[in-house]
Amino acid sequence: MSATRSVEFDVKDIGLAKQGKQRIEWAEREMPVLRLIRERFAEEKPLNGTKLVACAHITTETANLARALQAGGAEAILIASNPLSTQDDVAASLVSDWGIPVYAIKGESTETYNRHVRTALDSHPEIIIDDGSDVVATLIKERGDQVKELVGSTEETTTGIQRLKAMEIAGVLTFPTIAVNDAQTKHFFDNRYGTGQSTLDGIIRATNILLAGRNLVVVGYGWCGKGVALRARGMGANVIVTEIDAIKAIEAVMDGFRVMPIAEAAAIGDIFVTVTGNRHVIDGDHFARMKDGAIVCNSGHFDLELNLVALRGMAADPVTMRPFVEEYKVKASGRRIVVLGEGRLINLAAAEGHPASVMDMSFANQALSVEYLVKNKGKLAPGVHLLPPEVDTEIASLKLQALGISIDTLTAEQIEYISSWETGT
Ligand SMILES: NC(=O)c1ccc[n+]([C@@H]2O[C@H](COP(=O)([O-])OP(=O)(O)OC[C@H]3O[C@@H](n4cnc5c(N)ncnc54)[C@H](O)[C@@H]3O)[C@@H](O)[C@H]2O)c1
Repeated sequence: MSATRSVEFDVKDIGLAKQGKQRIEWAEREMPVLRLIRERFAEEKPLNGTKLVACAHITTETANLARALQAGGAEAILIASNPLSTQDDVAASLVSDWGIPVYAIKGESTETYNRHVRTALDSHPEIIIDDGSDVVATLIKERGDQVKELVGSTEETTTGIQRLKAMEIAGVLTFPTIAVNDAQTKHFFDNRYGTGQSTLDGIIRATNILLAGRNLVVVGYGWCGKGVALRARGMGANVIVTEIDAIKAIEAVMDGFRVMPIAEAAAIGDIFVTVTGNRHVIDGDHFARMKDGAIVCNSGHFDLELNLVALRGMAADPVTMRPFVEEYKVKASGRRIVVLGEGRLINLAAAEGHPASVMDMSFANQALSVEYLVKNKGKLAPGVHLLPPEVDTEIASLKLQALGISIDTLTAEQIEYISSWETGT
């Protein structure tokens, strides 16, 4: 660990800062809503002196969130939410150009990742911005005495909210947390259009394969799965969906996709993408059925959707064919299975994550959630909360305004009509 401008940090190479700064400013052009929030924060200082830890993918978009929080007066520390998603130039620039302590290195070991989480908690945060709930879980498990210092936390992703709800049921969630993912201006856009586009971007950057005419299997037809399926079809892939939820499955059927169990899809897929937030959705039995050369990746939060332990047990040591591309040869059949990005979020491992335009709304939600927690300090009950719906509408309106798109408003006659029951056939 080193220090520059009296800021502690652990990044790959501080010399990468110049390139990082340019890329952060490039992303900012696509983030008008967050910019407006940053400008207001700079005037009003709603987070003055708030000690904050943000655990996020350290990308150009997150850097712009950090700038907004800093403008609002927060003392923010940033750590990576995934060992493979850090953009090292961005981490360097945040330290060097904005004086923000960052602990994140692309490719860091799980041990380093966990050390960074603990170093961040040593700062005694009042607010935690989490992505996957690792920081909150560590705080509860290891730093019980620090929990009372917390004003609250926010959670970025589906998997993290699932964990927070489990903590709530277990009675260990003793502070308020805002489910940012559940805002409509987050998951409708980020999970669907962001993951949809960037997952394919990751697959293509890693492999340079043509998607047209290939059988692409999407495991899980939630918000992310819908986006991946939609965009893959747009590029000419024959999309197959697997699900465990009857409603999602029938939705996929009516959206025009083939739906079948994974055991069946395993034998015909050319490319597999998991987006379930669940464990071992592609298991040893499924790997055993796959065609020679099948490509498998994950875009769900944790690296446990693919049972890589089972695959390693069935195959010889993998050969790295290109960055983020490892080929396993199954001993029994001689067939080759290609795993991308070590089974970690492929859009962040091999590409750059979601485009800035979509993260603009997600991170507007994050910034406003932090402000909401600080403003309502001591007033919110422990547990998982949503941001008030008017904040969602405000973010959507600002985004439309930034895009130069105006919409209609209800006339007095229409308001009267939709609020009365008297007029019928
Ligand atoms: N790659 C990214 O940048 C990114 C962005 C947002 C969310 N995520 C992560 O992606 C995952 C999915 O998020 P989401 O918002 O789409 O969640 P979601 O809850 O909307 O969808 C998940 C779907 O997976 C299905 N599923 C569960 N187990 C399954 C199984 N064994 N086989 C087939 N389907 C199964 C569920 O029925 C559900 O429809 C989460 O881990 C989330 O944190 C990743």
